[in-house]
Amino acid sequence: MTQSWEIENFLETKNNRLHIDGVDTVELAREHGTPLFIYSESRIRHNVERLKNAASVIGCPLKLCYAAKAMSTLGILRAVKDAGSDIEVNSGGELWKALKVGFTGEQINYNGNSKEIWELELAISNDVYAIQVDSLYELSLIEETAKRVGKSANVSLRLVPEIKTSTHSGLQTAMVTSKFGMMPDEAFHAFAKYKDSPYLKLNGIHLHIGSQLPEFHAYVDAFRMLTDSMMRIHDAAGTKLQHINLGGGFPVNYLRDDSLREQFLAEQREMFSADFEPADAVGKAWQEAKDFADDCGAAHLFDSLTLLLEPGRSIIADTGVCLTTIRNQKTRPITQNSPPYEGGVAAASADGVVHSSDNWLLTDAGFNILLSMETYKWYYHLISAERAGDAHDTPYKLAGPLCDGGDVYFDHEGHGRLPDHRMLPADMKPGDVLALLNCGAYSLAQASQYNGRFLPPVVLIKENGEPELIRRRESFEDLIASDL
Ligand SMILES: Cc1ncc(COP(=O)(O)O)c(C=O)c1O
Repeated sequence: MTQSWEIENFLETKNNRLHIDGVDTVELAREHGTPLFIYSESRIRHNVERLKNAASVIGCPLKLCYAAKAMSTLGILRAVKDAGSDIEVNSGGELWKALKVGFTGEQINYNGNSKEIWELELAISNDVYAIQVDSLYELSLIEETAKRVGKSANVSLRLVPEIKTSTHSGLQTAMVTSKFGMMPDEAFHAFAKYKDSPYLKLNGIHLHIGSQLPEFHAYVDAFRMLTDSMMRIHDAAGTKLQHINLGGGFPVNYLRDDSLREQFLAEQREMFSADFEPADAVGKAWQEAKDFADDCGAAHLFDSLTLLLEPGRSIIADTGVCLTTIRNQKTRPITQNSPPYEGGVAAASADGVVHSSDNWLLTDAGFNILLSMETYKWYYHLISAERAGDAHDTPYKLAGPLCDGGDVYFDHEGHGRLPDHRMLPADMKPGDVLALLNCGAYSLAQASQYNGRFLPPVVLIKENGEPELIRRRESFEDLIASDL
């Protein structure tokens, strides 16, 4: 029977084990140890193609820039580049990595809300496609820096669009209360003020509404806002923009298993199960913006325009799986008044039996490598990699290895933002290998060595089906590499 999480020719059960691109994940776990991240190059290509489909529904060139902050191990950046994507970077470090794997300046889009001079120098001297400017102060700093470097910097001004969405509060970036960007009026004045500067090329405008956006319509509102801004910039400075940048934010469906849906509060459910085709959202947004411009007699502003997208999660999240081993187990009596049971019920397995004690499984994958499980209460679907085809009908409490009460796979604050229990086959025991799905984005990229834990290795299954180690497991020496 096909499981709800399976994806044909990518994520499948064979011989009862989880296979990725035809490769047995349990064998990879035995060879490299766990925790272990496994990525699929074919899936990266598939996702890049899917996003590039947006080009067919708009009437202008599309520039796709993978948001490196989602995952920037060099082997992944190479795979993204080979798949035909350009890149968005968010620091001098990511910019340096992008150059190292061979992205040219023309392929690089540089964001950041607190840039240092050396970072600006690196961006300007490499003629990046655009530095997204976060404030008027920063714009003057870029002009000064470009003058010193002896070049003209390509810039794009990041606007505050004031579009509220129902994604996680930490993932909202478009409100006046968020820290990003400048007010539109400031930007319009800047276009007029700097239009003749020999050290600045004001080529575009940018916004990013947020990440894991559940609402299709946010893109329509965003595009409309960008179009209105293009017209106002034209009025204020006579400038015809070369590009507009719609940011990233396309969602990934983390909750493909329908049987779990009622275990989530409505808001979380909507966010985790958000699912729409980026090309549909962009196509609709484009059409409405174009109609609006036509009505205002401003259709000519679209003539030589390029549309930029900067998706991270939707390119890399579902390409990565984290394998983890059960290292410990215990049972605990269920106490009705201790969180997370507040107002809750004891866990029932699929046969309807109510358990009076919980089976706890302690894994080797904690929030230091899957950070959002703690800070954002992120949900990653968990399965047995060794018994992937068995009924997952027995409830367990799952926790990671860190010395922190928050290092658990449920909502330890008792607010019910994650299911209290995870369903796995009966009789799970230490040594069994589990797989957390959709772990490719914002996981290893945010990882730390907290508790003196080695950062895990990464295997990339190449397009030809061969697994390749693209990052080794850290060693004792790595734990002290920067200590003097
Ligand atoms: C400016 C900017 N662009 C792109 C992204 C990528 O977003 P996502 O991974 O949701 O596509 C982010 C991340 O939040 C961002 O801040």
